[in-house]
Amino acid sequence: MAEHVLGLETSCDETSAALIETRDGRPSLRSLVILSQDVHRIFGGVVPELASREHVRTLDLVVHRTLDEAGLGWSDVSAVAVTAGPGLIGALLVGVMYAKGLAMSLGRPLIGVHHHEGHLFAPGLSEPELSPPFVALLVSGGHTMLLDVPAWGDYRLLGQTLDDAAGEAFDKVGTMLGLPYPAGAAVEKLARDGRADRYTFPRPMLKDIADPAGKPYAFSFSGLKTAVLRAVQASDDPVRDRADLARGFQDAAIEVLVEKTAHATLSLGRPQTMIVGGVACNRALAERLTERLTGKARVIVAPPRLNTDNAAMIAAAGAWRLARGERSGLDLEPFDWQPLPGLQAATSTSHPLPVTS
Ligand code: KG4
Ligand code: ZN
Repeated sequence: MAEHVLGLETSCDETSAALIETRDGRPSLRSLVILSQDVHRIFGGVVPELASREHVRTLDLVVHRTLDEAGLGWSDVSAVAVTAGPGLIGALLVGVMYAKGLAMSLGRPLIGVHHHEGHLFAPGLSEPELSPPFVALLVSGGHTMLLDVPAWGDYRLLGQTLDDAAGEAFDKVGTMLGLPYPAGAAVEKLARDGRADRYTFPRPMLKDIADPAGKPYAFSFSGLKTAVLRAVQASDDPVRDRADLARGFQDAAIEVLVEKTAHATLSLGRPQTMIVGGVACNRALAERLTERLTGKARVIVAPPRLNTDNAAMIAAAGAWRLARGERSGLDLEPFDWQPLPGLQAATSTSHPLPVTS
């Protein structure tokens, strides 16, 4: 029988609701509404208090619209899945309180979902047959991590960023180039017109792949960001040089992400790799990784709408946990930080032998 899981996502500056239908454990998307808050643009970053207020103002409207688009009513909702964290605590609170009220009044189960686990379930919405094992590169505005996923719920941390997240680096470089926040997509667009040979920026921690004493899967973007800033300051016409600077930065960031992800996939012998999170919208990143792994592993990337924060991925992750019999109580509390449930350090694979292919 078909079940309909309502997902809610309010962890940052997107107010989103979605309905997914599950049949025999396979999710399919019925409707998805994402309202991106634009109030933050003038501040050059997300203002937490304003984010919470916008969620309060719009969440109910977004949920009603989601039901209308799916052609479903309240009685069709079998369960409510909501992002419990990590994220902005005030923003999360709005979604969690709404979800609790709804679950209680409908008499339906409630499930709190970890935002990162939600990102991992996004590609499965466009490819319902998708299942582990795979390597996952999670790259968003807040996080950059490389995971080995032998089975759903079994997440092995290969490495993560030691400072800035990849998306954060794109956003900050965008600010240096005079682009409005969030700047990732605009930096990618500029880079398409830029020359690859004008700026060569450092590839942070790339050499660690071949260094037995290094951190092969750790990332660092703050030095790269500083190198771009110096180049912007040294330019006699940064507006003229914008596209070349964007290209130089993007090539450096992507090379590190691609090489470390490819190395993990090949070392672990995984047949497939997924890129998830907002930075997965970057076509150059997906193309380079696909080229790099051609004939060796399949690269899976969801459509852009499912890569940036959205409630469909939360509903999908929630549906999986509900199917395992998990439920959250009405005492569910939002959290600003907690590790992914089931996350463990991949100790046996953190220093695999260098792969030469
Ligand atoms: O997953 P997401 O929507 O939110 C977080 O959980 O952080 O990711 C947003 C991030 C932003 O930093 C944004 O600039 C970046 O994803 N982003 C991109 C692109 N599209 C979005 N970065 C690079 N290239 C893109 N095309
Ligand atoms: Zn996210």
